[in-house]
Amino acid sequence: MATNRSVDVRAPSFFIALVSLLFIAATAHAEPPNAKALLEDAKQNFQPIVVPSPGNDSVTAARIELGRRLFFENRVSMDGSVSCAHCHLPEKQASDGLPKAIGVFGKENPRNAPSIFNAALNFKQHWRGDRESLEDQAEKSLLGPASFGNPDQATAMSKLKAIPAYAGAFAKAFPGDKDPINSKNWGVAVGAFERTLLTPSKFDAFLAGDASALTKQEAAGLRKFIDLGCASCHNGAGVGGNSFQKFGVVSDYWKETGVATPDKGRADVTKNDADLYVFKVASLRNVAQTAPYFHDGSVADLTKAVKIMGKTQLGQDLSEKDAADIVAFLGALTGPVPPNYLALEPYPDAETK
Ligand code: HEC
Ligand code: HEC
Repeated sequence: MATNRSVDVRAPSFFIALVSLLFIAATAHAEPPNAKALLEDAKQNFQPIVVPSPGNDSVTAARIELGRRLFFENRVSMDGSVSCAHCHLPEKQASDGLPKAIGVFGKENPRNAPSIFNAALNFKQHWRGDRESLEDQAEKSLLGPASFGNPDQATAMSKLKAIPAYAGAFAKAFPGDKDPINSKNWGVAVGAFERTLLTPSKFDAFLAGDASALTKQEAAGLRKFIDLGCASCHNGAGVGGNSFQKFGVVSDYWKETGVATPDKGRADVTKNDADLYVFKVASLRNVAQTAPYFHDGSVADLTKAVKIMGKTQLGQDLSEKDAADIVAFLGALTGPVPPNYLALEPYPDAETK
């Protein structure tokens, strides 16, 4: 039908096709047409990391420097060999590469050591959220039987007091305190240092409006991460770290990870059955560098961890392509190690006369 009409329109439609081809060729190096929509969707789910510019508050600066020293100080542990950096290593993006961390006298922790980069963004600390803040976490780890192993805070503090230079450093960081070398101030100083350990990545450049900051595959992974529902739990500036959720919403996690004795999660902390297998949603910042995965370090490979999440949290069997794209996106969450995440020359021991 309408043969004449189709003859009539052939020339203009050929012309339109040619013009659109030229248009596509001209814009091929610019943003793909859906980049704007992706950026808008991303902004609905995530916020960029904002690194505060250093002020000129000398007390804060003194606390940060003291915290840095304390973070790398192993003489405060019971066997003299364990500092915070023992399990949060600069060369492992502030995690340790082990399924479960090893503390004083070779004791194994019940759980995996997460990266502490960007931990300042977490709403609670630890996998089960049993530490309220960075300061609370730092103070309590002095007593952890499989971390520093001190019987009480006084023992830990006496080890610091035996190193002469700490007297001046604590006094400078806590002016006006009569007895500044105490465990609360230890927590405040270590926390001040940790708050400087933020690692913005190219994802933050993307969120700030640079649509070309992500490769095609990373952008495809971000699209899937949002559309599949990963971002319903992993969102905000930390891409996680801001809520508690059940690990195993759709199916039991241990059937996928293969662990024999499942950790009950927050239920062991709150003694409430509603918290059975509930954990803090992990922040995915730097996740490509912090294998092995999950609270028990039971999964060595990121692709496998992503597929397990698809299955246990969303009831989805992710294709190889979807998993690979998401892993590429997660790689875009790796930021450079902050230059101050490095030990200073340790203070000398007390002279023995
Ligand atoms: C023996 C190894 C070890 C040492 C030493 C250690 N940590 Fe950890 N760290 C861990 C483990 C394991 C966890 C997870 C514990 C949990 O969730 O039950 C953790 C968790 C954390 C977290 C919470 C991160 C998050 O995303 O929830 C922070 C912050 C942290 N550690 C900071 C420190 C600081 C500061 C020190 C020194 C005062 C320290 N750690 C010493 C092993 C260690
Ligand atoms: C219903 C909430 C929820 C959803 C949806 C969800 N996650 Fe998770 N995710 C969690 C929780 C909770 C953890 C911590 C699990 C644990 O205790 O080990 C986690 C952990 C992870 C880890 C391991 C992080 C680490 O450092 O060990 C990765 C990777 C991950 N999720 C990726 C994803 C991806 C990709 C998706 C989408 C396919 C997704 N998640 C969907 C809640 C969720």
